[in-house]
This record gives sequence, structure tokens and C-alpha cells, in this order.
Amino acid sequence: LARGVTAPDLAGRHVVVSAGGTREPLDPVRFLGNRSSGKQGYALARTAAARGARVTLVAANTGLPDPAGVDVVPVGTAAQLREAVVEAAADADAVVMAAAVADFRPETYATGKIKKKEGADPDPVVLVRNPDVLAEISAGRPRPGQVVVGFAAETDDVLANGRAKLRRKGCDLLVVNEVGERKTFGSEQNEAVVLGADGSETSVPFGPKEALAETVWDLVAERLA
Ligand code: CTP
Ligand code: CA
Repeated sequence: LARGVTAPDLAGRHVVVSAGGTREPLDPVRFLGNRSSGKQGYALARTAAARGARVTLVAANTGLPDPAGVDVVPVGTAAQLREAVVEAAADADAVVMAAAVADFRPETYATGKIKKKEGADPDPVVLVRNPDVLAEISAGRPRPGQVVVGFAAETDDVLANGRAKLRRKGCDLLVVNEVGERKTFGSEQNEAVVLGADGSETSVPFGPKEALAETVWDLVAERLA
């Protein structure tokens, strides 16, 4: 097919994409967050819709406009994201976890704004682990034959860390980005290697996030067939 013409190879499929970054509140005005823009997840949602899929986009704090023809479920925290993804995954053919999910959250939430105390040091922030949504979905496979895809941003030993993470998470595909200066965060472009649990390795050259998204759906469609 010519570029720009997409086959409706995901017609009749339901896919779930998570996007953005979770925010873990400390008090009503403060949170622990991350720099994920959500753009890669939105590109995945748009391209899946263009290929005929019914798309549920679980969007964490992206501030991006809802893509046309996509069901958007807005969430804030990792716990909310988990609930939304688990619910949508129940009848999904594929789940793609592009969101940056906070690994930790503050143990306690102050219902009133935390104030400075004159002459006193601040209280330390105690963190606890959040649930691992990707590992949970991969282990549970609510629907037989479901394809589960994770994302990982690595700074060192990118491929070795990616392989180990793929095994640890139990997903079918892991999109590994090398994080650096102009790469990934907030940018329009991305470069990645997609690792398969079957040992496959697909390089995606530096280019628009749409191109990476199309490659991810190609690999998903192959595994659904
Ligand atoms: N992920 C998730 N739930 C979490 C953390 C991560 O579902 N609590 C998912 C992300 O959406 C991503 C994948 O797991 O698809 C990999 O995230 P990453 O942060 O690279 O993995 P971690 O296991 O948290 O490893 P690290 O210690 O390197 O952060
Ligand atoms: Ca993490």
C-alpha cells in the first residue's frame, strides 16, 4: 500500500492505549509527576482508529485534545489508570501501555495544604510502591490471544535492559526508547527498537511518533492474525 493509505487491518478489534503521565498527590495543590507528554500514546490511538479499531485511550494528565473517533477515559493517578485499563482490557484484543506510570506514590495524602513550620525542617516524604499495570495485564490476559505491549525509556545498556524488562513484565512486545537530550520527552519525533518475546527485534529510525505507532500496530496485527 502507498504511504498515507492504511489498510483497515484492525477493523472489528478493540484496542486499549494508555498515554501521558500519572500524578501522585501530596496535598490538594501538589503532586509527584513526570515529563511524559502523551504524544506517543495519542499517535498510537489515532493510527489504530485510522486502521479501523475501536480505541479506548486512557489519558493521564496530557492536556491534549481528544482524538476524533476515540473513547477517551481521563485519569489522574496510577491507581485510577490501573482501574480504567483493567476495565477496558476485559474485552480488548490489544493493550498498549504507553503511559509513564509513577512507580511510587506518597504514603499519605494531606487533605489540607502542607504549610511551612517556622524554624522546623520539612517532614520527609515517604513513598510506597504503585501496582504494576503492565505486569498485571500480561499475567492476567483477560482475553485469550490478547497482545500486550509495553514501553520503556532507558538511558544505559538500552537493549540488555529492554530484554530483561520484557521478560520481567511478561508482555509480547516492548518498545524501547533511548532517552537523551532531544529525544522523546515532549518532542514530535522518536527513535526506538521494538523487542518481541519471540526474540524479534524491529528498529524504527528517528522520525515522527506516527511512524513508530504504525510499526507497533503492524507487529500487533501480525500477532493477532
Ligand atoms: N508500567 C506500569 N505500571 C507501573 C510502572 C510501569 O504499567 N507501575 C508500565 C509502563 O506503562 C511501561 C512499562 O511498564 O509500558 C515499563 O515502564 P518502566 O518504568 O520502564 O518499567 P519499570 O518496571 O517501572 O522499571 P524502572 O525501574 O526502570 O522504572
Ligand atoms: Ca518505572
